[in-house]
Amino acid sequence: MSTKILIIGACGQIGTELTAKLRATYGVDNVVASDIRKLENDVVKNGIFEVVNALDYNQIEHLIEKYQITDVYLMAALLSATAEKNPAFAWDLNMNSLFHVLNLAKAGKIQKIFWPSSIAVFGPTTPRDNTPQYTVMEPSTVYGISKQSGERWCEYYNKQYGVDVRSIRYPGLISWTSPPGGGTTDYAVDIYYKALEDKKFTCFLSENTGLPMMYMDDAIKATISIMQAPAEKIKIRSSYNLSAVSFTPKEIAESIKKHIPEFTIDYAPDFRQAIADSWPASIDDSYARTDWGWQHDFDMERMTSVMLENLAKK
Ligand SMILES: NC(=O)c1ccc[n+]([C@@H]2O[C@H](COP(=O)([O-])OP(=O)(O)OC[C@H]3O[C@@H](n4cnc5c(N)ncnc54)[C@H](O)[C@@H]3O)[C@@H](O)[C@H]2O)c1
Repeated sequence: MSTKILIIGACGQIGTELTAKLRATYGVDNVVASDIRKLENDVVKNGIFEVVNALDYNQIEHLIEKYQITDVYLMAALLSATAEKNPAFAWDLNMNSLFHVLNLAKAGKIQKIFWPSSIAVFGPTTPRDNTPQYTVMEPSTVYGISKQSGERWCEYYNKQYGVDVRSIRYPGLISWTSPPGGGTTDYAVDIYYKALEDKKFTCFLSENTGLPMMYMDDAIKATISIMQAPAEKIKIRSSYNLSAVSFTPKEIAESIKKHIPEFTIDYAPDFRQAIADSWPASIDDSYARTDWGWQHDFDMERMTSVMLENLAKK
């Protein structure tokens, strides 16, 4: 059976770029983008698009039958900073959208699921440097609790019902095409915009807060490559640690100054500092590299060059 893809949450920061790459890889007619919002963007204009609510099982089932979907990429969620403002709704959206898709796979209606987890599954008691795949996990945010629970359920559905679900713990993702959706690592996108517009930036994290980050092209590459890998290579069915670069606000500011010497940064930490302090500073992703051949392409300097170049054109 040929691959027919449904992306749920396609208008978000990741979905926008994932949709374009999946359309280019599998053909426009084999990719159905969907979101609760219908925006005036390439996701909606450049291929099949449907409005769907990820909390509505029947709507998702209908789309799966209508387009004979084989693979679902579930990107709809409330992110870390937004989730703290609306814990009950974040739990509802992040968990029940996942259950719907897992149950559709259990019922044999789809063959493969991609569901993203996050470095937010770790918590203040986790070793912060080079955080291992298997370690203490006591997340202290609603978002982290929902992602860790989601991981447990993914593994359970795989072991008990043979559901082919694949997952990555994304670090903070950096891209220039669409704005971030309310996460704790959003500063690392915003800083490039402000560097070009105002030559100065006030950071909501303190200068030495190290966090794992990744350029979006690497994240999309990882997402498609874990989905294309033979099933037997995906040995971890909770979620894989995934890493590219780690840096502090001070370090990213230094890399920007190499391009914009007059750029200045100051620091005004807010509630997101506590979230960042509970997360790893760097990640050990050796299982992803060994099991399915993960390799990143972008370090911080390359990312800064590409971000500044593209945002300047934009
Ligand atoms: N961006 C990051 O840095 C990052 C890091 C780790 C994990 N993740 C995970 O990756 C996934 C995608 O993240 P993102 O940054 O693209 O998020 P985003 O907030 O930019 O996009 C989410 C999309 O889902 C849509 N959506 C929300 N509720 C919906 C519903 N009920 N039905 C259908 N669509 C709905 C939104 O309209 C939005 O377009 C999420 O699961 C997120 O937790 C992201």
